[in-house]
Amino acid sequence: MTAIYLTGFMGAGKTTIGQALSIALGLDVVDTDTYIEQKTGKKIRDIFVESGEKAFRGMETDALKELSGYEGIITTGGGIVIKEENRKLMLKEGTVIFLYCEPSEVINRLKEDRTRPLILNKTESDIAKMFQERLPFYKENTFEVNTTSKTVENIVNEIQSRL
Ligand code: S3P
Repeated sequence: MTAIYLTGFMGAGKTTIGQALSIALGLDVVDTDTYIEQKTGKKIRDIFVESGEKAFRGMETDALKELSGYEGIITTGGGIVIKEENRKLMLKEGTVIFLYCEPSEVINRLKEDRTRPLILNKTESDIAKMFQERLPFYKENTFEVNTTSKTVENIVNEIQSRL
């Protein structure tokens, strides 16, 4: 068995779907952000403030490398696809499932969020632009599932039928 990576923009449901899929498939699940927080003893937003985005992106690549060979589900931070190295590594190591969620719905879900440093003080059009810029990177996947208006159960069923 190889790893199953869940990718997608912030708010696409990676963590929620990862947990539900883990139960459905009887597999362990690990989240790259949680992994980094446990390793550094710091919250993601503090890492961004203290060390900057570039340092965080390096930590994401380290996390992916350290999780190489993991037999389970790996939920990823929304920006993990920015680096080509990460995209290649995930596709080489396992199945990459892109959870697509319409930008308008993502914006709606993230409205009250204060935990994600990259969208603090950002306008809706800034977020929509970031989404479009990343879309070609998310498109480098094994398969994609539209999560926009589906229940968690439906999404998990769809993933299971396509694995
Ligand atoms: C980020 C997404 C976040 C987290 C960090 C950066 C991004 O993860 O890794 O705030 O660049 O899209 P989620 O996608 O789980 O929110």
